Amino acid sequence: MNAQTKPITVCMGSSCYARGNANNVELIQTWLRIHGMGDSVELGGTLCEGRCCEGPVVRIGQTVYTKVAPASVGDILEHEFPEAAHG
Ligand code: FES
Repeated sequence: MNAQTKPITVCMGSSCYARGNANNVELIQTWLRIHGMGDSVELGGTLCEGRCCEGPVVRIGQTVYTKVAPASVGDILEHEFPEAAHG
């Protein structure tokens, strides 16, 4: 098992939440479950990251993704967790 996978932090500040992260967090949870990573990836929320005009903001490990559209969630997760996407 991957004990050291990158954590995912979703900005749940009011701007990001309203601009799409309410939906994105559900898409992320579903993707992780489908790919068998629901228990190995730490998924959390954060308050406003001070980048509202670039939102919705999602952080995966050290990488900050901005303007995350629902349609791009799958591509981002496949890029970040290729072992799950292709495993
Ligand atoms: S609400 Fe997400 S950066 Fe401000």
